[in-house]
Amino acid sequence: MRKVGIVGVGEYLPDKILSNLDLEKMVDTSDEWITTRTGIKTRRLVSPNQAASDLAVNAARQALREAGILAADVDLIIVATISPDMQFPSTACFVQRTLGARNAVCFDVSAACAGFVYALVVAQQFIACSTYKNALVIGSEVLSSITDWQDRNTCILFGDGAGAAVLAPVTSGGILSTYLGSDGLLSDLLMLPGGGSRNPTTHQSIDKRLHYIKMRGNELFKLAVKIMTDAAQEALRRAGLECKDIDCVIPHQANTRILLNMAKRLGLPAEKIYLNIDKYGNMSSASTAIALCEAAKSNHIKRGNIVLLDAFGGGLVWGACVIKW
Ligand code: UT7
Repeated sequence: MRKVGIVGVGEYLPDKILSNLDLEKMVDTSDEWITTRTGIKTRRLVSPNQAASDLAVNAARQALREAGILAADVDLIIVATISPDMQFPSTACFVQRTLGARNAVCFDVSAACAGFVYALVVAQQFIACSTYKNALVIGSEVLSSITDWQDRNTCILFGDGAGAAVLAPVTSGGILSTYLGSDGLLSDLLMLPGGGSRNPTTHQSIDKRLHYIKMRGNELFKLAVKIMTDAAQEALRRAGLECKDIDCVIPHQANTRILLNMAKRLGLPAEKIYLNIDKYGNMSSASTAIALCEAAKSNHIKRGNIVLLDAFGGGLVWGACVIKW
């Protein structure tokens, strides 16, 4: 099996900023409540003509440039998203079309907030087995299109954005271990019930607001702390490493309190957890991808560092990955 590493990263955040003060004018909430309960101050929103693939293409171009790979030479494109351009074709196919990546095999992965880690692991398998020589993995979300802007329990949380990574064989370091998990018994805690074959879109489904994210946040909170802690430990065990070996954790950004609780349980200083939720909120699959890109570009992670990706979301699904950067 070939060693696989990340050889380029990219990100794209739309320009429009929605602050907590803006939200105070939309629902019964306050900057103080949102800041203390979640850590979020602002989030980004797309302009009306931007879909998930548009965000994804911008992040992908940056990642490909850094990797020194031309679009025409990309073998595989996987987009992790729960807010695709359309039910089908896949958002990955739209990305292929815009990039001109005519030789790539393209598909989407649906694993909610763990989507980027799931997609990384899928791509890693293909490269490790020598099926493909490179892969473009993207987490891209336009969560504003599936957010109920009248529901204060959820609308304060989400934002739009995309992050990308290029995977290729490496001679040393790279992905040291991976761990994925799922529990469909807990699918009721976080879902978008409308628009699929269970509840096709009708006037009635729209009146019931089934086309928006439904979340039981408080129950998820406790599970997130436990599952993200366990996932980190399992990925480290598989890499033959311990918590003290970690230089930086790049987690899915759902809530600052979840992440600080996880750090405490792992015995890690809070400074080792990379946080950007204050700027962008929760962007589902894009959160981990963008955090990874920003951590790399701002030198929070340097060559040779041990980096842990750790994500959790609706499904339930979770995934962790240890990388020697
Ligand atoms: O992305 C991956 C999966 N997602 C997660 O892991 C999210 C996990 N959950 C969370 O981050 C938190 O549960 C939330 C931030 C969503 C909510 O925080 P919480 O501390 O769990 O609050 P809560 O849902 O228990 O609500 C506490 C109170 C309630 O009022 P009462 O019943 O105590 O009077 C809510 O109605 O806060 C109220 N509340 C709000 N108040 C002001 C809920 N949303 C708001 C709001 N502004 N936006």
